[in-house]
Amino acid sequence: MRLSVIGCGYLGAVHAAAMASIGHDVVGIDVDRRKVEALSRGEAPFFEPDLQELLTAGVESGRLKFTTEMSAAAGAKVHFIGVGTPQQRDGYAADLTYVNAAVDGLVPYLSAGDVVAGKSTVPVGTAADLAPRIEATGATLVWNPEFLREGWAVKDTIDPDRLVVGVGAGAEGERAADILREVYHPAVAKETPFIVTDRATAELVKVAANAFLATKISFINAMAEIAEVTGADVTQLANAIGHDVRIGRRFLGAGIGFGGGCLPKDIRAFSARAEELGRGESVAFLREVDAINLRRRDRAVDLVINALGGSVFKKNVTLLGAAFKPYSDDIRDSPALDVAIRLHGLGAWVTITDPAAIENAQRLHPQLNYVADRDEALREADAIVLVTEWDEYRRDLTPEHASTLTSGRVVIDGRNGWDAAAWRSAGWTYYGM
Ligand code: UGA
Repeated sequence: MRLSVIGCGYLGAVHAAAMASIGHDVVGIDVDRRKVEALSRGEAPFFEPDLQELLTAGVESGRLKFTTEMSAAAGAKVHFIGVGTPQQRDGYAADLTYVNAAVDGLVPYLSAGDVVAGKSTVPVGTAADLAPRIEATGATLVWNPEFLREGWAVKDTIDPDRLVVGVGAGAEGERAADILREVYHPAVAKETPFIVTDRATAELVKVAANAFLATKISFINAMAEIAEVTGADVTQLANAIGHDVRIGRRFLGAGIGFGGGCLPKDIRAFSARAEELGRGESVAFLREVDAINLRRRDRAVDLVINALGGSVFKKNVTLLGAAFKPYSDDIRDSPALDVAIRLHGLGAWVTITDPAAIENAQRLHPQLNYVADRDEALREADAIVLVTEWDEYRRDLTPEHASTLTSGRVVIDGRNGWDAAAWRSAGWTYYGM
């Protein structure tokens, strides 16, 4: 099938490459010329496991093309909208500028019978606002939210755990759902749950899922705050409650909390939208979820200060990690960098290492010191802080090896990822979250 994908960021570029890999003819469209040029050469413009291979194969097969020209969308049967919906500069609501621009740009090239599938995360009610403009052309609008996780984006796109399609009423909606079944044929053949609903529900499913995940993380971080003053162990607590299948162990990792381009802005946009709808109190708890999350960053900074005897001034502090999570070079709202900036502000000599995100971090915060090599970054550190649990830090860095690199004997485990006993028995002072 011929498909167009408008917006080639983390979501759109992966979607375009994944759709080509399952046999579709895909054109990815983005306003960023440099990004389009890189993608056209089969180069991934950001770090995402398996994306490079998929892009190369797609471009070489001739089934995957990228352009800045919206006119290239003409003739495609399904048009996916995957542009960003960042937090507004002056508030919590989602900024829909890019979604509106994508729709305005696309409308002249739509034909009767086309399907426009919104994938961007939007406030509930957005599809209802966009539909008249799109459907005046004879095309149909559906909302098909995306649940991919960065670091697993290729896998999550080709083999998702569910597909959700929100359609308009009547036969047109049914027809559009059938077209999307054809698009996602390998997942449909595997009997992946394929949920057809109305557009408002589909929009809401996405924000509800992210709100739930954020709440789960802040719940365990709230328990960590209580554990800390009682001498209890939050990791053992998470393991114990996680055995209850109704609770589940995943997303109960206490630490410096969540960041990235999705969970933080999505819970804020959800609160803002609920307030517009006169239902602010229904999701008032999300303000608390946000507040708990931000407190964790303060707590990490306090731990470093305490660990270094009350001041970080002119102390060498090495942070392991810059990305908001492992297997990603994304530094949007990264808790790791937030902690780094605050320590720097307090006069520490901060060194940061990361396997993938250094370039991005350097561009945003050139005042910090970046060292690509992990061991080089650890030399002379007065304190080591684990902020992003990449394998090369959490799994591979042993206290014995760290002892050969620095005489500082202080670690702050911002992700509760290390074995505290192992560090302590090797002579280190270990602080967990
Ligand atoms: C999140 C959702 O997990 C995806 O399902 C969703 O599609 C995506 O947002 C989106 O809306 O596009 P992502 O932002 O890639 O995906 O990252 P997550 O894996 O959800 O992690 C988010 C943050 O939570 C990270 O900073 C991570 O370190 C933190 N986290 C995660 C914890 O602090 N503790 C945990 O137990 C798990």
